[in-house]
Amino acid sequence: MRTYTNIAPLQSALRGCRQQGQRIAFVPTMGNLHEGHLQLVRRARQLADIVVVSIFINPLQFSPNEDLDAYPRTLTADKEKLFSEGVQYLFFPEVGEMYPEGMALQTQVQVPDLSETLCGSSRPGHFTGVTTVVNKLFNIVQPDVAVFGEKDFQQLSIIRKMVQDLYMPIQIEGIATARDTDGLAKSSRNGFLSPEQRRLAPLIHDTLVGCRDAIACGFDNFLQLESHARMQLLQAGFEPDYFAIRDARTLRAVNEHTEEVAILAAARLGSTRLIDNVRLALNPVSDWGMLASP
Ligand code: PAF
Repeated sequence: MRTYTNIAPLQSALRGCRQQGQRIAFVPTMGNLHEGHLQLVRRARQLADIVVVSIFINPLQFSPNEDLDAYPRTLTADKEKLFSEGVQYLFFPEVGEMYPEGMALQTQVQVPDLSETLCGSSRPGHFTGVTTVVNKLFNIVQPDVAVFGEKDFQQLSIIRKMVQDLYMPIQIEGIATARDTDGLAKSSRNGFLSPEQRRLAPLIHDTLVGCRDAIACGFDNFLQLESHARMQLLQAGFEPDYFAIRDARTLRAVNEHTEEVAILAAARLGSTRLIDNVRLALNPVSDWGMLASP
């Protein structure tokens, strides 16, 4: 596996691959790799000849009150994992390589609307930081396909929209959330949980699944389902940020055109913010006209 910290030599190596007709898959990450990331890498390997992984803890997607310095940095272990998975290229730039003029002067890419709801309301500017860095990384790597996890479902939707709106010739592949056996979505943040919080954490997934089952059984008062779920999380010791039943395509309220529902939750356990989601395809003959959701 070749590791690059500078853009120009990586681009020159990838140009060589392209000239030989090799297809390039890209997996952008912030490191601290776990099984969820490795599943993205395995899928990338199936989709292309060359797999490029980036590890870059992007300061632009952290707000001043979020602890960027506390984000886990585990480069040696990450490299070993990527090497064992057969990744050919690792891009590991410094902040100065990605933002040579500093972040204040950086051109930004913003996907309106989708970036402002759900996690976007509680983390203003976060998704603009994500789309800006993903755009830069896409331009550096110029992949044929890029692989993202469905755990960050809103992020995936925003990236799909950016790629579509800007006519970027990149296939975006979403991969199902990797979970521990008790249902907890694998996340770099799980490592921050105390043993007691770790025991409680799967309740997020249980609550989402309970809500999905209720909708599948025909329960159609979404406001009631949302507030019941929030109450369940609150009573168990979570600080819920949102629990929302939305149209999976627009992330807006479910309406008569909705084909798939996404149920999304974000909640804090102590200082750790966990997110998760599940989805449900709707029966097109159902009458959803009466449903309401914020
Ligand atoms: O999902 C992440 O790890 C990050 O948001 C990403 C896509 C690598 C951009 O920094």
